[in-house]
Amino acid sequence: METSSDNRKREAFKRGVASLKEAGIENPALDAAVLLGYVTGEPTDTVLMERDATLEPPEVLLYSSLVQKRCGRVAVSRLVGGREFYSRIFHITDDVLDPRPETEILVDQALRYLEVLEENPVVLDIGTGSGAIAVTVAAQIPLARVTATDISMSALAVARRNAEVHLVRERMNFVQADLLNGIRGEDKFHVILSNPPYISCAQFEDLQDEVREGDPTLSLISGPEGTECYPPLVEGSMNLLCAGGSLMVEVGAGQANFVTGIFDQAGFTDIRIVNDLAGTGRVVKGKKNA
Ligand SMILES: C[S@@+](CC[C@H](N)C(=O)[O-])C[C@H]1O[C@@H](n2cnc3c(N)ncnc32)[C@H](O)[C@@H]1O
Repeated sequence: METSSDNRKREAFKRGVASLKEAGIENPALDAAVLLGYVTGEPTDTVLMERDATLEPPEVLLYSSLVQKRCGRVAVSRLVGGREFYSRIFHITDDVLDPRPETEILVDQALRYLEVLEENPVVLDIGTGSGAIAVTVAAQIPLARVTATDISMSALAVARRNAEVHLVRERMNFVQADLLNGIRGEDKFHVILSNPPYISCAQFEDLQDEVREGDPTLSLISGPEGTECYPPLVEGSMNLLCAGGSLMVEVGAGQANFVTGIFDQAGFTDIRIVNDLAGTGRVVKGKKNA
């Protein structure tokens, strides 16, 4: 980023926007405002209210270095260490997927089901990463008990921290497991949720730099086809769900019909595909017969 002796916020902001624009970043003004707010400790939407306030020299240095990294395609959420998901801020590290807005569709579906349940909900989230899904469900449904699993111990540590921040730790259980292996449903689950890795090895090469180099490979690639996680997840869920319980999974673009077939073969009923705003199938859900 160009240097200058004018360290008023508005001038620093302008220089940040110019550098990001030149680097081809999609939303340069938004990214510059988020990074400036992070540096000054102010919310993004008010950071430019006192435009003539002057940044301290360490703030200028930090801001310039963050803009530089963003120009090198590091995601903003990784630079500030957090991401908003379902109106809560989730701490993220290099060990977890940066939660995506489309995953809120899966959470919406789960909440719709759980909000009208007549018992205290028991929920399982497979491959919890930052805990975005599991912690949100626990926070939105105050009587829910939620088990969150991941194959990665470091991801589980991040999820646990987010559960503490959002005051739901006491109703959550964290388990290291390879998909459903070793999961015992002493109390059967009302809902099983998962946003598993669903990128194929070939698709991985075509991902944006921010994703390919930012998110852990373990959170993205499932194998040569991209759909490898679904058969064991769907087949194994039948034994863990209570009668009338529901399995809901996020799927990649173009995978919904294939995954619907797996639900059908495993004996699920009332199988539905839920589309995102662009009309792409994003969630497949089905019920175990009551
Ligand atoms: C696509 S990320 C989803 C993270 C989080 N649930 C979200 O929606 O933001 C997939 C997660 O599954 C975990 N994972 C990958 N393979 C797994 C396996 N075999 N068993 C359990 N978890 C696995 C990864 O570590 C990662 O945290």
